[in-house]
Amino acid sequence: MNCAVILLLTSSCFTWSSAIYTPNRAGTLKYLLEPPVFAEVVGHRGGNVTLPCILRTKPSHYKVKWTKLEPEHVGRENIIMISNSHAFKQYGRLGPRAALRKAHTMDASLQLRGLELEDGGTYRCELVNGIEDESVAISLRIEGVVFPYQSKNGRYRFTFQEAKDVCAEQDGILASYSQLYRAWTEGLDWCNAGWLDDGTVHYPIIESRPACGGEMLPGIRSYGPKDKKVDQFDAFCFTSQTSGSVSYISGSFSFEQAEHACQRQGAALALVGQLYSAWRFQKYDQCDGGWLRDGSVRFPISNPRERCGGLPEAGVRSFGFPNRMKHLYGAYCYR
Ligand SMILES: *[C@@H]1O[C@H](CO)[C@@H](O)[C@H](O)[C@H]1NC(C)=O
Repeated sequence: MNCAVILLLTSSCFTWSSAIYTPNRAGTLKYLLEPPVFAEVVGHRGGNVTLPCILRTKPSHYKVKWTKLEPEHVGRENIIMISNSHAFKQYGRLGPRAALRKAHTMDASLQLRGLELEDGGTYRCELVNGIEDESVAISLRIEGVVFPYQSKNGRYRFTFQEAKDVCAEQDGILASYSQLYRAWTEGLDWCNAGWLDDGTVHYPIIESRPACGGEMLPGIRSYGPKDKKVDQFDAFCFTSQTSGSVSYISGSFSFEQAEHACQRQGAALALVGQLYSAWRFQKYDQCDGGWLRDGSVRFPISNPRERCGGLPEAGVRSFGFPNRMKHLYGAYCYR
């Protein structure tokens, strides 16, 4: 069997899978172990994971097709790999980082290495034999942190594309609804609405209050889908572990002096996402405002105390975007 034959099969797979795929009920599958060993696998940026898919019995001829589902584009199929017992072929953005584990003859599990923020989501392992195709779904959750981001020009200044861009500039991506939901359960309360990656607009409220949607129950408040080209909101960004680290240089610096202070240490002013990542994953705690690369001044608090911002919850506090020359702060550097 060579790759040309596999490719041929690919084009016909498109029609079959979209027509036949229905959600599985536990125990009804003949060929695939269902539910899969783990329905959810957790990884972090830069890490490796294995998405389990185990055969119970083998049909005489079959292929295994791995895809990533895209909730925003229903019907679009993101193929990662198609394999039979002799050969495999990788596809798309994920293909080059994917391999089959093949721990034993019934193992069709997918290994993904060098995880990126965008890799989170639902994957499908599909056994294709042309007669009774079967599939199981496995979700990959990237461990991370959600942070709200507001323009230096004030509240609600980003179109959808601009929100995407600012998240990328701060070492993140636009968060998904499930990432925001999880952040809310972990304590995120934010009274400004922001874009999510599916083009909807939401904000998470833990303490109901009149200024933030009134006395409705706590939860994720929804504005629903908005016009991506016209409507403007803040952004909810998502980031994960970084390979470098954040440090604080104390001093009374203008923005430019803070930049130089970091450069002298072979570093650069930290991005907002990098500070959130250090706060979340290294429990970074520093009770001093410092410049970040976007011109904002913030500080991370892991052990809330009265003299550090006064709020009872842990979090990254912001002084907004002070005047870059007149106001003096320390510097948060990233290396
Ligand atoms: C991920 O796997 C690659 C090889 O596939 C290996 O070189 C690397 O060390 C692994 N990374 C981690 C974090 O385990």
